[in-house]
Amino acid sequence: MGFADLESVAAAMTAAGKGILAADESSGTIKKRFDKIGLESTAEARRTYREMLFTTPDIAQSISGVIFYDETLRQQTSSGVPFTACLAKLGVVPGIKVDMGAKPLAGFPNETITEGLDGLRERLMEYYKLGARFAKWRAVIDIGAGIPTSYAIHANAHALARYAALCQEQNIVPIVEPEVLMDGGHTLERCEEVTDAVLAEVFHQLAGHRIHLEGMILKPNMVISGKKCPQQASPEQVAAATVRCLRRHVPGAVPGIAFLSGGQSPAEAALHLSLMNAMGGLPWQLTFSYGRALQDAALTAWGGKSANFAAGQQAFAKWARLNALARNGRYQPGMDAQAA
Ligand code: 13P
Repeated sequence: MGFADLESVAAAMTAAGKGILAADESSGTIKKRFDKIGLESTAEARRTYREMLFTTPDIAQSISGVIFYDETLRQQTSSGVPFTACLAKLGVVPGIKVDMGAKPLAGFPNETITEGLDGLRERLMEYYKLGARFAKWRAVIDIGAGIPTSYAIHANAHALARYAALCQEQNIVPIVEPEVLMDGGHTLERCEEVTDAVLAEVFHQLAGHRIHLEGMILKPNMVISGKKCPQQASPEQVAAATVRCLRRHVPGAVPGIAFLSGGQSPAEAALHLSLMNAMGGLPWQLTFSYGRALQDAALTAWGGKSANFAAGQQAFAKWARLNALARNGRYQPGMDAQAA
C-alpha cells in the first residue's frame, strides 16, 4: 500500500481557509453539554443536535472535516441519509474518535493513560467501511504539583504512536492529539516547558513507530496560561510561544497542525489562530479542530428547541466563518459582535 490516499486526505483536511469541526463528544461529555441547556441526553436529541450542525447551509465553505463519535457515525438525517454520506457529498471528510478515554494511570496519582488499543485494528476496518477517512486519539496531560511525570508522557506518547501506526496501516489518517490541559494555575512558561517535553516525546515515538509524517495531522494545545493563573499572557504572547514551541518539534513533513480549543472562549481561540497565521512563513498549515469554540454559541442558540434550529445553524456558521478568516490571519477582535 502506498501513502497517496493518506496524503490526499490529509491535504483535504487542512485545505486553505477551512478547518475541522470536532463533534465527537462521547455520551458522557455530550450529556454535560446538554445539562447546561437543561436538555435530556437521549439518542434522538443527540441525533437532532448533530443534524443541525451537519446540515448547516454552506458548511463546506469553512469546514473541511468533521470528527464523529461512534454513535453519530451510524446515525442519519431525518430524511434517512447517513450523516457521513451527507457530508462526504459536500467534500467534507468524515472522521472518527477511536480512543476509549483517559483512565487513571496505575501507580501515578492524578495522571491518566488513554485506552483503546485492543481490537483497534478491527474497529478501524469497520469505521473505514462506514466512511471514516481519518481518526482521532486524545492523550491528556495535566499540569500540577509534581506532574506530569516523564513516565506518563512516555506512556501516552507510546500509545499515540501505536494508534497512529494502526490507522495508517488501515489507510486512515491519524489525528495525533496530545492535549496539555489549561485547567491549572500554571504560567505560560510552564505550559511551554511541558508542551515542549510532550511534543519531543510524541515525535520520538512517531519516528520509532515508522509513522509516515506526510499522512498525519497533529492536534495540540496552544501554549497558554492556565485558567487559574493570576498572570494571563497576552494573545500576542500566546501566539509567539505556541509557534516557537511547534517550530522546535514538528517536522515540516507534517502537512497540518489543527488546534483544539481546550476551554478558551470562541473569540480567544479565533484570535490566537489568526495571530499565528498572520506571522506567515510557517512550514505547515495551521488550522482549527475546535469542539467547544465552534459549538458553544450554537448549542445555546438552539437550546434543544426545534423552533431554534436555524438560529443554532447561524451561530455555528458564524464561528466557522470567523475561524476560516483566522486561517488567513484575518480575524480581528470584535468581529464576532458585528457578524450575523
Ligand atoms: P475542544 O476544542 O472543545 O477542546 O475539543 C476539541 C477536541 O476534539 C478535544 O479532543
